[in-house]
This record gives sequence, structure tokens and C-alpha cells, in this order.
Amino acid sequence: MNETKNSPDARARWWQGAVIYQIYPRSFADADGDGIGDLRGIIGHLDHLRGTDDALGVDAIWLSPMYPSPLHDFGYDISDYIDVAPEYGTLADLDALVEACHARGLRFLLDLVPCHTSVDHPWFADSRSSRGSPKRDWYIWADPAVGGGPPSNWTAAFGGGAWEWEPATEQYYLHSFYPEQPDLNWRNPAVADAMADVMRFWFRRGVDGFRVDAIAAAIKDELLRDNPPDRRPHAIPGLGGDAGHDPLWNVNRPEVHDVIRHLRRVAAEFPDRVLVGETYVQVEELASYLGHGADDEFHLAFNFELLLSPWEHRHLTLAIERSEALHPPGALPTYAFSNHDQPRHATRWGPERARAAAFLLLTLRGVAVLYAGEELGMVDADPSDLPHPPFDRAGRDAYRTPMQWDASKHGGFTSGDPWLPLVDPGTRNVGDQRADPGSMLSLYRVLIAARRASSALAHGEHRSLFGVGSDVLAWLREADGERVLVLLNVGDAKQRCDLRRVAATDGEVIVATSARTGRADLADLTLAGLEGVALRLTG
Ligand code: NOJ
Ligand code: MG
Repeated sequence: MNETKNSPDARARWWQGAVIYQIYPRSFADADGDGIGDLRGIIGHLDHLRGTDDALGVDAIWLSPMYPSPLHDFGYDISDYIDVAPEYGTLADLDALVEACHARGLRFLLDLVPCHTSVDHPWFADSRSSRGSPKRDWYIWADPAVGGGPPSNWTAAFGGGAWEWEPATEQYYLHSFYPEQPDLNWRNPAVADAMADVMRFWFRRGVDGFRVDAIAAAIKDELLRDNPPDRRPHAIPGLGGDAGHDPLWNVNRPEVHDVIRHLRRVAAEFPDRVLVGETYVQVEELASYLGHGADDEFHLAFNFELLLSPWEHRHLTLAIERSEALHPPGALPTYAFSNHDQPRHATRWGPERARAAAFLLLTLRGVAVLYAGEELGMVDADPSDLPHPPFDRAGRDAYRTPMQWDASKHGGFTSGDPWLPLVDPGTRNVGDQRADPGSMLSLYRVLIAARRASSALAHGEHRSLFGVGSDVLAWLREADGERVLVLLNVGDAKQRCDLRRVAATDGEVIVATSARTGRADLADLTLAGLEGVALRLTG
């Protein structure tokens, strides 16, 4: 019989309950003073992440692309998959970073961008050179539609049509994102082989896994059929669903699962490696990306529904419950509230809710992915402070500003001129917050420590409790005989909790967003506005 996801083996894998920390390499720490973050900068700041008493205590780093790139999509347009862009350092620096991480017990993930290359990649240069090029079929080229114009009505995620006319060879090429990001043709086995070699190259250097970019767009209808008019609003924006058409034929195709299985087989050649899918799909579809059983498709797949949810009790409740109900048994949900593509959650939901959000993210079952800076409560840049024209045409500069290490003008990020302005290092920075037990950073640290110290929080089952209070999210986590009750008031007013349905009378506070400690009487428990409390049930 196949190993199931519930088996002890699957549970014991290192990513069970893990906290992964996303680093956007341009914006973390600049060691050479050119105003751009770099690998040496990261190496110099690992103390913040793990290995010292006041470190955050995360389990792994995911590094956004550090590959050579002409930066049309700020690294997600790659011109060489097996090198490091000079502004970030060298392959030797990358090796040193992996080694430094491992020396502290930190795992290290890279970003794999398998769906498209840069227009500057030699594969594409070859492919576009002539219709007879041996690499012509590495990309998706097509003649105009009958009667002229693009081969289909598919749209690109960043707006406009997904087809770009190439006058030299009189065909269109497909791009699901910017025109400078031609889509690879995953129906061509040579592409699958080439990407496997890329993965092996990094696995052999000790990389522990990949976050896999934009996977739902990896494979498109072979006949290039037009998308039909849309009849339902798309809960998940992006990926071609915004132009009045349902992206039925170019996103989330059934064949995408063959692509993921291929990636999984390559990962399985090496011990203990993880693949985390960037799965911008409906939660109903996520189960299929997690495959059948423990050895199939992605180990982990992002569920973005909570990130995209308004901060309202009923929306959050439903997003949590849908996640729990729609993941296959034994699979772990993967949540992030911020990343380099979305407004930071302290901006989206409001800075006053950031402590409650941290509590939510780190007490839910599954894997939590933090975006560098959120542990300080960092907010987005004010648009008027950003460069014009913007670096990112899709308007994401505001979420990508540098990490704030100290209160100095450039936040200790660089000794030169930062590539993007810092937002508010005087207000939020690592140095000040490290020393302050009431800071956001200290809250993240104690939440992560509590999660590690508790079997129930690290890998316990989840059971929601409804009706505890009109604005109170409540659930039980349970493992190895330990029962933890998690309560979070998402409203601003205090709330008395009705806990009659909990088979216990007392709890011991293991972590809270407030100063609350000690024993709690479940018959008489009132939460302050936006207060979160996790209680180990005792009596
Ligand atoms: C998702 C990445 O997170 C985003 O930054 C990028 O623009 C697209 N994929 C295209 O690679
Ligand atoms: Mg630099």
C-alpha cells in the first residue's frame, strides 16, 4: 500500500508545522554598498533568523529569484537558471549562504520559475531566430488566427493580450505574464529535461527545495482554443481571469499535474527536498495540486484565500474552514499573509491588526510563510515616495522596500543609496524591537517558539468552534495528548467567550498577543479587542 499523508513518516518531515521566511534579495541587506541587497548581506544577517537567543527562530528561508535577469519582472524573468546575478554575488556566495544556513539548522529554498524565461535567455534567442531553430518548439509559437490577429483571446496576468507578434518570423509567441517573459512549452520533453537539470544543479549544491512560481499557468490547451465569456466573479484575481473571459483553456489545465509530477520525480532523487507550489487557484482545486498520497505532486501548496480575505469575522471563518475541509487528509495548508506581489498585510488590514494577524498565521495548522519585514509590522511605502517611473510596471514597488535593521536614515540596509526608499526605519526596526518585549518582533519570536514547543500547535489536528463570540475565531488543536484552545477576537470591542462546548474548565496561557499569562477560567473569559490567546487545556 502507498504511504499515506497521515503516516508518521509524512508527519516527521522537516516542513511539518514549519515557518518559512521569504527574502526578496534586492531588499534584505546590502553588504557592498551599491544600494542593492545581496547574498553577503543575507549571510551577515542570519542571526536575525536563527541560532541566537533573540533570533526569530524560523525553520527555512525561501529566497526570491537571485538569477541573472534583465529585471522586466524583477527577477522572475530569468536569463540564466544556473547562475547568480552579479549584483547579488557569485555562485560561491550562494554556496556560502547555503552552508551558513545549514550550520544554523536553517533550510534553504530557491525560487524555481519553470513557466517562462526572459526574452534574453539564450533558449529564447535561439527559438526566435528562425522557424527552423532546434529550440523553436521550446516556446509556444503560433500563426495568426483565421482572418488575422492573435491566435486566441487569452490575456496576460499583467493586462493585455497574451500573444506577442514577432515580425521576423511572422508568428506570435505566448506570454502569460509580461511580453518579456515568453512561456516555455511544457509539452516538449526537451523543456522538461532542461528544467530537471536546473533543479538537479541546485539540489547538488545543497538547496533544500523550491518555491515553484506560477505553476497553474505552466501548460495551456494544445489547440489554443478561445476562452469563453466569464459568468462568475473570480475570487482569485490575476492569471487571465480579468478580461471578461473565464481562463478555462490557459490556466489550471488538467495536464498541469503531469508537469508537477515531473518536478516531484526530480525532487525525489534527493533526500528530504520540498516543493512548494505557488498555486493561484481556487481552494477547491488545491487538493489536486497536492496529489494523491504522500509521494505525489507538491508537498505544499499556497492557499491564498486568507491573504485575499477582508478582515471580517465571517470571511476569515469561512476561509479557515474551507482550507481545513478542502485539503486532502494529512496534507498541510500553507499560508502567507504578505509577499512581494501583494500589499503588506499591515497595510491591507491596518497596522493595528498586525499583532492579531501574526497570531492567526502562526497558530493555524500547517506551514506559515513570513515575508521579510512583517515581523516588524512593516507597512507599504507611500506611492508619492516611490520612484517615477516605477521599477515594476504592475505597481508592486511599494511592497518591496528594504528591510529596516536600525533607526538610521537608510535603516542599516545599505551604506549607499537604497534602490527603493525605506518606509519608516525610525519607527520600526530590528534593533529597537529586539530589545522590547512588547514589540511586534518579540511577538513573532514567542509565537514561533510556542509553536515549536507545543505538539498541538506544531502538528495537531484542527477543529473549529463556532458561536464562541460574535467576533471570536476559535479552534482546538490536538496532538500527542496535548489540547490547545486558540481564541482570537478579530473585532475591536471586548468579547466574552462562550466556551461551554469545550470539554475543559481551565487553561494555561501558552502564548498571547497581550500580556496575559497564567491560568484562565474558561467559564469566565473575556478577550480584549484584537486579543489572541492560546491556552493549553488542563482542568
Ligand atoms: C509570481 C511571482 O511571485 C510574481 O512576482 C511574478 O511576477 C509572476 N509569478 C510571474 O513570474
Ligand atoms: Mg549590494
